Amino acid sequence: MAERERDDHSGTETTGHEWDGIKELDTPLPRWWLWVFYGSILFAIVYWVLMPAWPGITGYTHGMLGKSDRAQVVTELKGLAAQRQAGESRLRSASLQQIEGDPELQAYAMQVGQSVFGDNCATCHGAGGAGGKGYPNLRDDVWLWGGSLDAIQHTIQVGVRSGHANARGEKVMPSFGRDQLLTEDQINDLTEYVVALSGRKANAAAVGRARQTFADQCSACHGPAGTGDVTQGIPNLTDSEWLYGSDRGSIHDQIWNGRNGVMPTWEARFSPETIKALAVYVHANAGGEAEAVAPAKAAQAPAAPAVAPAAAQPTATSTAAGGAGR
Ligand code: HEC
Ligand code: HEC
Repeated sequence: MAERERDDHSGTETTGHEWDGIKELDTPLPRWWLWVFYGSILFAIVYWVLMPAWPGITGYTHGMLGKSDRAQVVTELKGLAAQRQAGESRLRSASLQQIEGDPELQAYAMQVGQSVFGDNCATCHGAGGAGGKGYPNLRDDVWLWGGSLDAIQHTIQVGVRSGHANARGEKVMPSFGRDQLLTEDQINDLTEYVVALSGRKANAAAVGRARQTFADQCSACHGPAGTGDVTQGIPNLTDSEWLYGSDRGSIHDQIWNGRNGVMPTWEARFSPETIKALAVYVHANAGGEAEAVAPAKAAQAPAAPAVAPAAAQPTATSTAAGGAGR
């Protein structure tokens, strides 16, 4: 083989190929590159021997280390299930009060409750349960249906006007305007009356005119003093928390249309343990109303019918402004 030509400029041999005076250099591969290349080949061979690598017709080469991501996931899932089962079985056997009294178990229940709440309840009750118009705030200590652990559990289980055989919410507020049970004027006066009930300034003449109508049409449910009834889900009209809004327009609207909220039953969707966890979560989130609360504030009832129209107490203005969402 003839001596190959060397390029004058770089001192490298040429391949002998030449096109229109341009010659191809035969530059050798850099040494480091070659080592990396041989190293990679070696690595691949070692890898094939140790790790799962080659697919076959019926399976694949498993490698000497027997490593398998699938097996690892299965083991991890088993561990998680065991952990969860332990938590579930403790939830099953403990009463709501016991769960709340055991910080570890309560923390577990809160975790389950929070995640289930986020996926199922937040659509209506808002993220974290702050509520919105027509959907009660679950973070405050004002309750339509009672805020004890047992009351909350019961509400979640059977729902409100949900179609469940034992659903809560037998009493439904009539649509006084739409169904022409009352006239527009009567409803306007009642609106003032409700505003006065909640301790705000209202038109005294209207309040006076509405007094008898309220006694005839509303007190059977809302109580003579308008304080409501938590055993029946009847809102207290004298506080500053409103399910449908505190302003006159919203109050008028509710008397006219008589909306009645629907809360689904969850009995068929969740295990009893999950419902317990939800109850503990909601209860703790709201600050945890004390147990064994007197169900209705009916005891206060006699005080208010005598309430003079709020115009007589001009100082009590708008404590409820902006109090939308119960
Ligand atoms: C489709 C909307 C909707 C969903 C979803 C929903 N709720 Fe409700 N919930 C309501 C409404 C409306 C009320 C009020 C019912 C009424 O007017 O008495 C309510 C009432 C409640 C109450 C009683 C509040 C009180 O003041 O006494 C609790 C507790 C409650 N919901 C918890 C939950 C939990 C926990 C979930 C999820 C598992 C959930 N809700 C999902 C609509 C919903
Ligand atoms: C048959 C029972 C019943 C009667 C009678 C009744 N209500 Fe109600 N009222 C309810 C219920 C139940 C609710 C709550 C609806 C819900 O939870 O969605 C309610 C809600 C309200 C609200 C909204 C409270 C809030 O927090 O936003 C107002 C205002 C109200 N009623 C006024 C009246 C007035 C005024 C009358 C008389 C003209 C009256 N109601 C008669 C059952 C009744």
